Amino acid sequence: MSKEIYYPNPEFSAQARIKSMDEYWELQNKAKADYEGFWEAYAKEKIDWLEPYSKVLDESNAPFYKWFTGGKLNVCNQCVDRHLKDKADDVAILFEGDRGDVEKITFKQLSQRVNRFANMLKEQFSVKKGDRVVLYMPMIPEAAYAMLACTRIGAIHSIVFGGFSAEALRDRIEDAEAKVVITADGAYRKGKPYLLKPVVDEALKAGGDSVEAVIVVKRNNEEIAWNDIDNNYNELIENFSDECDFEPMDSEDPLFLLYTSGSTGKPKGVQHSQAGYILWAQMTMEWVFDVKKDDVFWCTADIGWITGHTYIVYGPLAAGVTTVMFEGVPTYPDAGRAWSMVQEHKITQFYTAPTAIRVLHKMGEDEPKKYDLSSLKVLGTVGEPIDPPAWKWYYEVVGGGKCAIVDTWWQTETGGHMISPLPGATPIKPACATFPLPGIMAEVIDQDGTPKEVGETGLLCITKPWPSMIRTIWNDDERYVKSYFGDAVKDGKPVYFSGDGAVVDEDGYITITGRVDDVINVSGHRMGTAEIEAAVKKEPSVAEVAVVGTPHEIKGESIFIYVVLKEQGDSSKIKELVNAVLSSEIGNIAKADDVIAVSGLPKTRSGKVMRRILRAIAKGEAITQDTSTLEDPAVVPAIQQAVADSK
Ligand code: WTA
Repeated sequence: MSKEIYYPNPEFSAQARIKSMDEYWELQNKAKADYEGFWEAYAKEKIDWLEPYSKVLDESNAPFYKWFTGGKLNVCNQCVDRHLKDKADDVAILFEGDRGDVEKITFKQLSQRVNRFANMLKEQFSVKKGDRVVLYMPMIPEAAYAMLACTRIGAIHSIVFGGFSAEALRDRIEDAEAKVVITADGAYRKGKPYLLKPVVDEALKAGGDSVEAVIVVKRNNEEIAWNDIDNNYNELIENFSDECDFEPMDSEDPLFLLYTSGSTGKPKGVQHSQAGYILWAQMTMEWVFDVKKDDVFWCTADIGWITGHTYIVYGPLAAGVTTVMFEGVPTYPDAGRAWSMVQEHKITQFYTAPTAIRVLHKMGEDEPKKYDLSSLKVLGTVGEPIDPPAWKWYYEVVGGGKCAIVDTWWQTETGGHMISPLPGATPIKPACATFPLPGIMAEVIDQDGTPKEVGETGLLCITKPWPSMIRTIWNDDERYVKSYFGDAVKDGKPVYFSGDGAVVDEDGYITITGRVDDVINVSGHRMGTAEIEAAVKKEPSVAEVAVVGTPHEIKGESIFIYVVLKEQGDSSKIKELVNAVLSSEIGNIAKADDVIAVSGLPKTRSGKVMRRILRAIAKGEAITQDTSTLEDPAVVPAIQQAVADSK
């Protein structure tokens, strides 16, 4: 690990909410001494309770933890209504389209549009509290209106990333038994229109029977088919009032579902709660990004991922700052797009993924220097480990050596940041997530709860429940327990295991080493090998398949697939065929960089595929482990040869 340390900018620290490590430890020790008291103070301060809660943390049915039980609130009130008193004319959402069109939506306008949307859902489509609404949307303000409208009336939204295929969309619609789907004709990307609505048509053609209506927002006015079930948002919306009461929700009512990949089986619908989630979304905006009243916060994620939920919509709006929503990509029309947006909108916090940093770095080492980036105060990264060269470029060239980089480690399941530097307090080691946030008990341990020695990789666990944690997997309590509370035990109690490995150094700094389960992280997108394998098996010529991740210079990891064909022989088309099936079963994000036909997979005598060997071969490493226990040790050199031949 790097020995370099970057201290916070003293000017920044002076005005920060948490100004020093002493203050950090004071908070963390307070949480350790009186966990419930710690959280209660923030819950009282940050949430407009409609009815008070009776208990801070209920652990009686662990690991189905409950927070602030009995309390009532509304998350849309937290994000919109309560700001109308003193921020009505401040910009809530600053939208920039792919082609440079800009729209500034004030809190007042946001309130009116969300209310209209909510009334439309209720009155026209009979959407009620607890109903599921799937969003398959581009990055346009209507996506945020739709989310907040659901929240306002107590409907549970489930956003499906626009890059997922019709099959993947249908699976998610069916698992959630969605009543309504909200989509758009399409949007713009790299100067050209693209379509989304036909994917919804395709998904509903072969299933999704629970869906009663599709609401279509027009963005690019491309020609699309209109079916009986479809409704034109732009024509309908004007019929509804811009006043709408919000539904008082119980702290523990589900807020949204978000499907994510695990190491086994199909994607799981991660279920989040109301009070705990919104509390932590706001607190992390205030601590990790240290947002202040006039800040303009830009998170480049897509709303289809948790980062978009928490740090484009819920967190910034709950904190009452301007959130930037960007339809396009930071590399179009050129490598200066992101930097010109920072200059133009005077962006104060910029939050993106290491893959994007690597791409922008590669495209223009000195590009950021052409722009005035002096408005920037904090830079953030998320989604995958960042490497020191990318970190340094981000720090020196983008941040001009004066902005802290918050390397935030968290997950769909954690709802918000868990481990991250605090920009005014933490001396930063490059590419290191540093310390758990105050109130978060993250530890690197063994399966039996023993803390790992300095420098030894262990399981990254959260050993106490926290307010914004996953509540369950939709319709599958058993899988929730098995997925997260089956691997590590501390003091006789199962604790939350993240699926990541981590290592602690002599100063107590935590560095994330990456997934230790069968999950691959490609450009910050999480994908399960089991899910990819199940899709590849649908290609008729494939008899057997094994999927591994392998290091990739830009994407972090890429997908590497080994297949055994039913009929040996010509395998020249296999990559094309496999990628075609992945694209239709999951989406283009699941396409493999390498697809290698082999004569057999390395299996133990009990039939288990030895992935470690396959990972080593993909990386071009020598096989150090004993292969004599394999059913057929001769497959190893044969696979090595096949990989060598493919290069
Ligand atoms: C990885 C994204 C290293 C990790 C918010 C985790 C990271 C998975 C970091 C969750 C980071 C996220 N450093 N790795 N700062 N942040 N990860 O659910 O493997 O899409 O388990 O949530 O991303 O991905 P997810």
